Amino acid sequence: MSSEKSAIYDDDAFFNNYINLRNAESNYNDLIEQPIVFELIGNVKDKAVMDIGCGYGAMTIKIANSGAKYVLGIDSSKKMIQKGMLENSHENITYKVLPAEQIASSIHEKFDLIVSCLAIHYVEDFQKLFSDIYNLLEQNGNFIFSMEHPMYTASKFPQQWVTEPSDNTVTGFVTDHYGDEGLRNISWLGKQVKKYHHKIDTIFNALIEAGFILEKVIEPSPSADLMKKVPKTIHELHRPAYLIVKSRKG
Ligand SMILES: C[S@@+](CC[C@H](N)C(=O)[O-])C[C@H]1O[C@@H](n2cnc3c(N)ncnc32)[C@H](O)[C@@H]1O
Repeated sequence: MSSEKSAIYDDDAFFNNYINLRNAESNYNDLIEQPIVFELIGNVKDKAVMDIGCGYGAMTIKIANSGAKYVLGIDSSKKMIQKGMLENSHENITYKVLPAEQIASSIHEKFDLIVSCLAIHYVEDFQKLFSDIYNLLEQNGNFIFSMEHPMYTASKFPQQWVTEPSDNTVTGFVTDHYGDEGLRNISWLGKQVKKYHHKIDTIFNALIEAGFILEKVIEPSPSADLMKKVPKTIHELHRPAYLIVKSRKG
């Protein structure tokens, strides 16, 4: 049931490259993104949780191990879900191949928390997605997500740092076409990948119109410690790679 747009994660070569990237010691998911999302999630004891675009369950298993009573991990990629079932299984986790676009018609239960890590930039229609998520939350339930930052998704060209010609020092990041929302075909991990660029106002207005109350917005910058440990992260000061939001069903 992989949706055509995100079927790239079911391509063998792309999948292997992605797993190698995640296994690398200096991967930004583990260094930057996942710790922030996990901290925002807070106490999950006895909560019912859905993880949208759960991949192979990196966050899903952390939530289950922290005492959630039930975690539903959904992802459009069969290969991701298979790996999750093999490597990140837990008696309180159910993994299911399901695109985020189909949650309204396929899921008939409610959640105390819905989480999504670096998956929703593959979804075109945020108004529908956020309304669907709102409807699947209990009152006061949280929706916490990370996505590629709009400054990161803006360019219609291969992602590119601005560099000083004399010595290649990185002095910025190219954000052409920021105001032109929609499909981006980018080259990543040796393949062409389709994702969607949404502007900051589109993202927040879609949340507000769905009924969400904003609780926290984070555009992570590398800490001094991280820049010392992994020097290339200093470039992240030129633009955030991620946008991380905690919102609540009001
Ligand atoms: C960068 S990975 C992140 C995986 C996981 N959330 C994590 O942080 O480890 C993006 C995931 O989003 C999934 N994905 C892409 N488009 C999707 C869609 N329309 N519905 C559900 N999952 C989708 C991909 O299959 C992939 O597993």
